[in-house]
Amino acid sequence: MRAYHAEHQRSIEQPNAFWKEQAKRIPWFRLPETILSHDEQNHARWYDDGEMNTCYVALDHHVESGRGEQPAIHWDSPVAGQRRTLTYREMRDDVARFAGALASLGVGKGDRVVIYMPMVPEALIAMYACARLGAVHSVVFGGFAAHELAVRIDDAEPRVVIAASCGIEVDRILPYKPILDQALAQSHHQPTACIILQRDQARAELGDRDHDWQGLVSSAEMVDCVSVRGTDPLYILYTSGTTGKPKGVVRDNGGHAVALHYSMDRIYGMKPGEVFFSASDVGWVVGHSYIVYAPLIYGCTTVIYEGKPVKTPDAGSFWRLISEYRVKAFFTAPTAFRAIKKEDPDGVLLKNYDISCLRTLFLAGERLDPPTFHWLDDLLKVPVIDHWWQTETGWPIAANLQGLDPMPVKAGSATVPVPGFDVQILDRSGEPAAPGEQGSVVIQEPMPPGCLAGIWRAPKRFHGAYMAAFPGYYLTGDAGYIDQDGYLFVMGRTDDVINVAGHRLSTGEMEEVVGSHTAVAECAVIGIHDDLRGQVPLGLVIPKDGFDGDIDMLERELVSLVRDKIGAVASFKQVLVVSRLPKTRSGKILRKLLRTIADGEEFAMPSTIDDPASLQDVQETMVHRNVGDAHKARLS
Ligand code: COA
Ligand code: AMP
Repeated sequence: MRAYHAEHQRSIEQPNAFWKEQAKRIPWFRLPETILSHDEQNHARWYDDGEMNTCYVALDHHVESGRGEQPAIHWDSPVAGQRRTLTYREMRDDVARFAGALASLGVGKGDRVVIYMPMVPEALIAMYACARLGAVHSVVFGGFAAHELAVRIDDAEPRVVIAASCGIEVDRILPYKPILDQALAQSHHQPTACIILQRDQARAELGDRDHDWQGLVSSAEMVDCVSVRGTDPLYILYTSGTTGKPKGVVRDNGGHAVALHYSMDRIYGMKPGEVFFSASDVGWVVGHSYIVYAPLIYGCTTVIYEGKPVKTPDAGSFWRLISEYRVKAFFTAPTAFRAIKKEDPDGVLLKNYDISCLRTLFLAGERLDPPTFHWLDDLLKVPVIDHWWQTETGWPIAANLQGLDPMPVKAGSATVPVPGFDVQILDRSGEPAAPGEQGSVVIQEPMPPGCLAGIWRAPKRFHGAYMAAFPGYYLTGDAGYIDQDGYLFVMGRTDDVINVAGHRLSTGEMEEVVGSHTAVAECAVIGIHDDLRGQVPLGLVIPKDGFDGDIDMLERELVSLVRDKIGAVASFKQVLVVSRLPKTRSGKILRKLLRTIADGEEFAMPSTIDDPASLQDVQETMVHRNVGDAHKARLS
């Protein structure tokens, strides 16, 4: 039996023994005796009676055990023209002082703190300072608009909000403070204070409840780590679901630290002291787990990159960073490499850098499409590893485990379930699917440590969204299959979630925004294929009876409405006004069929369609407006 199979089997058959052993790898104030327990709804909780502090595990412990002078972070910002390295000791001290500043504003154990910051070291300092106090942070991605920030503020009810004065995009400075002010004007909940990190690129005007980061820190005392239980929450991270209201995924402290530590060893094959570079954003789960927490929990150095894969200044940026910081493992989303490939198809810029330090490339956030896999495989000559996971799980569900038992790579597959995850494929009736047969990808309970502990203050929603469809199994929302060799292929979502440039977005939410326009009678938003971003949203709109306004103007208004309400990151750039939409006889819009047509695939006329001519109408409009590959779509 392969080492992988033995470890996976043990993790599933003896979860208590397996995760008890793994727990010993991190420093606890009180080692847990209860390993696996269950909450009121019978879902798994880990290490309930353990006492620890995530900030202690990631910073203080390493300083105490001799890693104080090792770099903890390398910050590199081509857009700000700055870079900075902080050792573990410097990071620990900065965090302890900022935690003191937060405490002086009344933040304590269990309080929430919303963080709205770009890729700057202070974002990590703020997150760790919350962890140090036992407070719960909720980081909101900088590409989200004021409305989205307001929704999260109302749900998390933070005592304090921390923001930077601005973010920096390729071609523009983005002042954050006006967005924060606008969000607070919309939200019912009001924090008692805001802390603003002033950046020279756009300094913010401060109001009565605003504090300047530097000013606050200069008078703050350093504070120590507060002891929390293994099951106490570390953070809330909002993610898109099928409705307009994002889900606040809650992560605990103990299981999270143990799972991330395990993953750095077994999945990423890292050694403490090495450099790990994940090019994502602190606003996403990849940023939380593999920029902020896992590398430091494991004693590695993490690279924080404030820039893009291309245009800051060119498509060689990643190669430069890997070479300069001697990166051993690099992790990003396939879309980033599609952007690089577009600008530098032959990888000419790579020749300017020595990246012999790079051992492995990891990709996630969306399926690693075979053409991008082959391009990278030919260019880099190191293992190119696709691995699959979600905000909810917080760490990979399926991977090719580089530190345990590397396996031959199959293009298009995320390889095998990670120990701890009992992945299965179920058909519509909940029966196991045969090898090679596509179905719903589910995880049999108990989910391993590190996975979501619930939805913030919404236990019913948690149950309904993930646990109700197939009792005893967690529904991932992805479709896929397992082949004869046990390799998992994850093919796409089964719900209204789309993946735009590695960013998870809800078409349901976009429909709510589009539908709120006074001239719109009905609408559908679908995710269609895009060569660079994987998917992009397309809006289809029926105006209200009697609408006699300018159609171009309406389309433009809807594009800017989504940009204003959700944010630029939605990449909602195309709307088509149509006279009817294809529906079933019971009135359900045939969204999947619309997507099939936009992507130029063969389609069958559903027997349930109410008005077959409506389909032809929409296809004609799509062809006329050059949508995707609609001109290739054929009725079978
Ligand atoms: N703050 C403010 N605005 C942001 C933002 C942020 N943090 N991130 C993106 N945006 C804006 C962009 O400026 C862009 O605005 P525009 O419509 O005015 O041009 C819009 O949101 C769409 O952004 P994006 O889809 O990221 O497009 P892009 O052209 O800036 O970059 C890629 C394209 C592929 C290079 C980029 O998306 C990328 O690097 N993706 C990798 C994603 C990733 O790491 N995902 C995490 C999972 S691992
Ligand atoms: P997020 O919660 O933002 O990490 O998005 C999670 C979703 O992205 C998953 O449910 C998948 O639909 C998709 N995804 C992430 N990684 C992969 C991958 N390696 N292969 C296929 N889909 C992926």
